[in-house]
Amino acid sequence: MHADNSYFCTPNLEPEMIETHNINIQKTTSSKLPEIDFANLAFGKTFADHMFVMDFVDGRWQEPMIMPFQDMTMSPASLVIHYGQSIFEGMKAFKNTDGRFGLFRPDLNIKRMNKSAVRMCMPEIPEDIFMDALSELVSLDHQWIPTGELASLYIRPVLFAIDDYIGVKASQSYRFMILLAPVNAYYTKPVRVKIEREFTRAAQGGTGYAKTAGNYAGSLYPAKLANDQGYDQLLWTDAKEHAYIEESGTMNIMFVIEGKLITPSLGETILDGVTRRSAIQLAKDWGIDVEERRVSVIELQEAMNNDTLEEAFGCGTAATIAHIEAIADGESVYQLPNVEDRKLSNKMMKHFIDLKKFRVNDPHGWMVELS
Ligand code: COI
Repeated sequence: MHADNSYFCTPNLEPEMIETHNINIQKTTSSKLPEIDFANLAFGKTFADHMFVMDFVDGRWQEPMIMPFQDMTMSPASLVIHYGQSIFEGMKAFKNTDGRFGLFRPDLNIKRMNKSAVRMCMPEIPEDIFMDALSELVSLDHQWIPTGELASLYIRPVLFAIDDYIGVKASQSYRFMILLAPVNAYYTKPVRVKIEREFTRAAQGGTGYAKTAGNYAGSLYPAKLANDQGYDQLLWTDAKEHAYIEESGTMNIMFVIEGKLITPSLGETILDGVTRRSAIQLAKDWGIDVEERRVSVIELQEAMNNDTLEEAFGCGTAATIAHIEAIADGESVYQLPNVEDRKLSNKMMKHFIDLKKFRVNDPHGWMVELS
């Protein structure tokens, strides 16, 4: 038997273990703001002045800290490097030209992160501390929130295993961090996708619904092959039959067929996207029929052949609403209707921007304004 056989997940916290929410804040003395060209931001390459850090050690969360964005040292034996215990989230802060700023539905990301934590045998992050961390950090770096129509401050919470140990077990210590990155659009033009029927992203009983690093690592090689053939992304199909559309790795997928909004129903293999949920709600609010159900490749082929596929688009925090330009299935490539003619996805895209910039009513209370 292995010397350390503690395969068990770290116990969930009891509330009294958190003694204080006071975040220890060390501000930078040399802001990088003046160096940033906000009009030419490449996605994910520029980071704001500060980051949030909180470790989980000895069964409890340690002092929450905000500090200047900086490199960190790690043991080469850190468990995350070897066995991949790492989960993350993607969220965004928005600002309008009047200076009002806020977060879009942070509660859903917080809940999803904790769902991923349970699946990956990691400690959950107390929701109130998570929310305080977001609001303190984004408020401190609010000057980093770009105001351009398609721009935002991308927020990357990440939790990973930091025990130094060689051997497969759940780590007992973890680091939770939140990074901020001012960004423009993730996809700068309509996306070409390929239906993937050979490789698998997720199977029943696996980790597909969790936002865990390995799901993305496993997608890279098939995505590279598709890239080499001229496609930006894959449309993953189910692991068992490769007959049903699931999601598109960087985003959920939606189709408009004969006026109805149709999207694969959630399950263990599909990420429960915040933009997906919001798009479904908006469509319902606008009186559009929405069907969340299994979507077969055959149904999609028929709709493409009969010209009844009116729109296809991806939904994601990074991607927002991403028009699909073409769908490849084996040797066949289907060109979709002109992007300018797509009523629903264009309306949705505009509405999301208006809502996130506080320009329209927010009947569901999705925006959490900060100051
Ligand atoms: C997000 O949409 O926030 C993601 O994490 C996906 C990734 C493509 C950036």
